[in-house]
Amino acid sequence: MNKIDLNGRSAVVTGGAQGFGRAIAERFVSSGARVAIWDYDLPLAEKTAKAIGDAAIALKVDVTDTAAVERTRDETLKAFGKIDILVNNAGIAGINKTLWETDLEEWRKVLRINLDGPFICCKAIVPAMLSQGYGRIVNIASIAGKEGNPNAAHYSASKAGLIALTKSLGKELAQANILVNAVTPAAAKTAIFDQMTQTHIDFMLSKIPKGRFVLVEELAAMVAWLASEDCAFSTGAVFDISGGRATY
Ligand SMILES: NC(=O)c1ccc[n+]([C@@H]2O[C@H](COP(=O)([O-])OP(=O)(O)OC[C@H]3O[C@@H](n4cnc5c(N)ncnc54)[C@H](O)[C@@H]3O)[C@@H](O)[C@H]2O)c1
Repeated sequence: MNKIDLNGRSAVVTGGAQGFGRAIAERFVSSGARVAIWDYDLPLAEKTAKAIGDAAIALKVDVTDTAAVERTRDETLKAFGKIDILVNNAGIAGINKTLWETDLEEWRKVLRINLDGPFICCKAIVPAMLSQGYGRIVNIASIAGKEGNPNAAHYSASKAGLIALTKSLGKELAQANILVNAVTPAAAKTAIFDQMTQTHIDFMLSKIPKGRFVLVEELAAMVAWLASEDCAFSTGAVFDISGGRATY
């Protein structure tokens, strides 16, 4: 594993109890950071933090709840003294249906978690980063946000929105030494697959020129670099990790 220097850094990884978030938390800790795993599945987050070691803590939060996010930010600041890195990773797939079969409430639920969540977390944490004059924000979007997957209009729109949020916030913070970037992974075999139909999973795999799913460790490596000081001039940008699927 290449060494990325995150020594002395404090990070928040939302949805860090499993999947991409867990791999990111593990990579951050092995790079020297302390990590607060923010997840609404507290028992799993605690189990993950315990497995990672003393540098990880688990906090229960629903990222769509502004008051809970502010409370959890304060708890994290109390534990670590600062937050250098925010990874907006918590997200859901929603059910696979055509747009016209999708209930408005199902649409809103996906948008709430995947787009309102990162907005609420950024809004809560950016002022702390501004006052310390340093920050790295990495938003976990998806190739679906660039390409638009059929039977996932809510998910694709939420991730396209997150890409646009990244571009706007990156520009707002460009001179504040706070960099904001997004990654657009292809599908990875995580618990999120339980929410999808097999037809949808097969469709996603068929679209990946490399012919396999991305590994969570592969995404974590990219996120670790984006969360480090080595990433110094890229902001408001979208980093592809789609095994060749992305054409722009
Ligand atoms: N796995 C994939 O194929 C894939 C591909 C591209 C992008 N992504 C994105 O990567 C991110 C992580 O996906 P994953 O595959 O690891 O998913 P996962 O289902 O394995 O893990 C998601 C975690 O987020 C938590 N979470 C969900 N809603 C939450 C909320 N409102 N508040 C707090 N925590 C919440 C869950 O409890 C869970 O621990 C998501 O944003 C997803 O859209 C995943």
